[in-house]
Amino acid sequence: MKKLVFAVTALALISTTAFADVIADRQAVMKANAKEVGVLVKMVKGENPFDAAAVLAALTALNDNVQKIDVAASFPAGSDKGDTTASPKIWEDPATFQAEVDKFKKVTADAVAAPAQDLDALKAQVGTIGQTCASCHETFRVKKG
Ligand code: HEC
Repeated sequence: MKKLVFAVTALALISTTAFADVIADRQAVMKANAKEVGVLVKMVKGENPFDAAAVLAALTALNDNVQKIDVAASFPAGSDKGDTTASPKIWEDPATFQAEVDKFKKVTADAVAAPAQDLDALKAQVGTIGQTCASCHETFRVKKG
């Protein structure tokens, strides 16, 4: 019996740590995305002056990050277990999740192709990007603790 308990505990440990790196990596990508959006939001809020070069730099960094998102590599089956807020819905409805990723890639690529040239345009651009984040998070992220 003791042996069985040990085996089960060990298995539980393996299943929560097996995807630790994958989870940490995708969270780091998300944090980097949030950092770039943060640069834009500060301008929208008037905390920093509008700066077209800084806008393009932030959008380019965001887009570079986003184009690298690979659902199969970053969201392997089973990686909803562990220190993650990824929702099981990612694996229940992979087509919709992939569509959200594709939309994200299109929105950031479009933004780099036509970066905001003034504050009003930036407000609209940040709004569009923010909606893309929110739309995916709403369905595919769970709130924990
Ligand atoms: C295609 C879906 C999708 C889009 C679009 C998306 N996210 Fe996420 N985001 C996720 C998922 C899934 C997680 C949970 C990852 C995990 O914990 O394993 C997450 C987690 C995060 C986190 C928490 C990371 C951590 O350290 O736990 C931040 C911050 C974040 N996203 C910011 C953003 C921002 C900002 C945008 C838009 C620029 C964005 N996300 C767009 C799916 C998305």
